[in-house]
Amino acid sequence: MSATPHTTVPQTLDDPIPMTLPRLAEKKRAAEPIVMVTAYDYPSAQVAQAAGVDVVLVGDSGAMTVLGYPSTVPVSVEEMLVLTAAVRRGLETPLLVGDLPFGSYEASDEQAVATAQRFVKEAGCDAVKLERGGTSADRARAIVQSGIPVMGHVGLTPQTATALGGYRAQARTSDRALGVAADALALQEAGCFSIVFEAIPAAVARELMPLLDIPVIGIGAGPDTDGQVLVFHDLLGIYDGHVPRFAKRYHDLRGEMVAAVGHYAAEVRGREFPGPEHAYSIDERELAEFQLGLSRM
Ligand code: KIV
Repeated sequence: MSATPHTTVPQTLDDPIPMTLPRLAEKKRAAEPIVMVTAYDYPSAQVAQAAGVDVVLVGDSGAMTVLGYPSTVPVSVEEMLVLTAAVRRGLETPLLVGDLPFGSYEASDEQAVATAQRFVKEAGCDAVKLERGGTSADRARAIVQSGIPVMGHVGLTPQTATALGGYRAQARTSDRALGVAADALALQEAGCFSIVFEAIPAAVARELMPLLDIPVIGIGAGPDTDGQVLVFHDLLGIYDGHVPRFAKRYHDLRGEMVAAVGHYAAEVRGREFPGPEHAYSIDERELAEFQLGLSRM
């Protein structure tokens, strides 16, 4: 009996290949870690593209990181569509997932399908994401049946964080862990192509992995998921708000941005900026004529 080797199409940063649902599934089978990051505008999308990530999520975390809301709850579909369309314009090859905001999909299958269609038609998404199991699994099924791929999200689900006792790790008792397991399995059964595990014990995630055939993307769920996602502003150190324990900061971009803007302010106040290299010239004769003309006005 010969073993069939798992091969994926090689990905290089110089010549990236569009990410598709079959390629994502193949990555899981081949145990190749899947890289997902959030983005909220054209430049952050271009950064994700240039860095060669596999999946870009326009997360409703953008409500806090770029729109300044105190939570993800207030953000509207219209606001999310503006952010998502900007990301679409900066992205070529990663799979683009749009986050359905709170209140835009829970009421009925019809509402869920109509909102998901807007993310595909108006913002160019490849897929949408929604939070929780329970009735959300029914909504996911309806969206999938309408032809739009869906990513699920269990564990800490920020849209309903108040009901979960705040922004805290989930599934830390046997009962709660079984609840997360039931939600994840319901979402898989509903046809989700992938699922996010947020803020659950690594040991719980590890136990769940053999039950899930679809790629699992973790954030604060330990090292055993099929991939990882981080919020762009946490990763780069841009956001000044609360940074969760699971968010690794790879840079202090905010510090560098404040220093650069402070440097500019000091140069303006010190009359060092703009220098001659930032100014436009005019021919001497034209200037003399202009001065003459002005004197006659
Ligand atoms: O909104 C978001 O950024 C998310 C990720 C944390 C998965 O849902």
